[in-house]
Amino acid sequence: MNRFFEDKEVAINYLKHRPHYSAEIAEAIINYLAEYKVKPFQMALDIGCGPGQLTRSLAPYFDEVLGVDVSSAQIDVAKTAQNPKNLSFSVGIAEDLPTPDSSVDLITSATASHYFDWTEFRKEVNRVLKPNGCLAVLSFDVIYIDHPDDVIMKKLNDCIDSYLDYTNNQDLKASTPVDYQHTMEKYTTLQLPFADQKSVDIDTRYNGSVTEFIECIKTYAAAINFMKDNPGTSYFMDFQMSIMSILGGGDPDVTMVTSWMPIFIRFARKPGTNL
Ligand SMILES: C[S@@+](CC[C@H](N)C(=O)[O-])C[C@H]1O[C@@H](n2cnc3c(N)ncnc32)[C@H](O)[C@@H]1O
Repeated sequence: MNRFFEDKEVAINYLKHRPHYSAEIAEAIINYLAEYKVKPFQMALDIGCGPGQLTRSLAPYFDEVLGVDVSSAQIDVAKTAQNPKNLSFSVGIAEDLPTPDSSVDLITSATASHYFDWTEFRKEVNRVLKPNGCLAVLSFDVIYIDHPDDVIMKKLNDCIDSYLDYTNNQDLKASTPVDYQHTMEKYTTLQLPFADQKSVDIDTRYNGSVTEFIECIKTYAAAINFMKDNPGTSYFMDFQMSIMSILGGGDPDVTMVTSWMPIFIRFARKPGTNL
């Protein structure tokens, strides 16, 4: 079981610096579910929920939504946020879901399912989903920066690619969890259950300062490990300064950029009659 996310500080940084998933993501998931299921939906589970970014966006569509995470620090932080009444959080694992057989309409997992033991998780998904219930696993591997000038945009994104080169940068490679390979392959290597499957890509954009952009990158597991493995490293400060130099200098706290996050979602639907 991965333990990169256990620290309270990591969990707090997650809530503070990770991008919230746009309404478009929840809508794409609900549209897939609604192809075979009639609203209102009863129960959704969000596994590896962290501080609950995706979990919260599902609440308007269900009678009940439960966020589950192996890390009690993440669950504690999730509970401190403003949560609607139909949303709850509990410590638990993907490989032993805390819900009865055939009781769940939707299972989601955002930037977490590459850490699961899929042999066990697949069995649990099949057990707890109702007939026609859906699984939606999503992630992103990089966040780029949009810029109206194509030349500057290319320089910015070449800079991001070079600082986040998990393959050729040996120090970063050593700190990158092996499971991250699934993310780099856009989850095509995960063996989803059920024959009825679909993939959807959604580009999302959000605005923030260069400092916030770098703080978000620092919440990646590879970055967390890298900073632990290389105490006192100036790597992410150098990264920030390189971005600022491409943008012509200034204060990174107030220099605003539009971040571009290409999200991939993989869906699977349990058949209408049990397997
Ligand atoms: C990268 S974070 C994603 C958090 C949040 N879903 C998001 O999108 O920002 C991955 C989360 O998965 C959790 N996790 C990893 N393996 C798990 C498992 N086997 N069962 C439940 N949670 C797990 C970690 O504790 C962590 O909170």
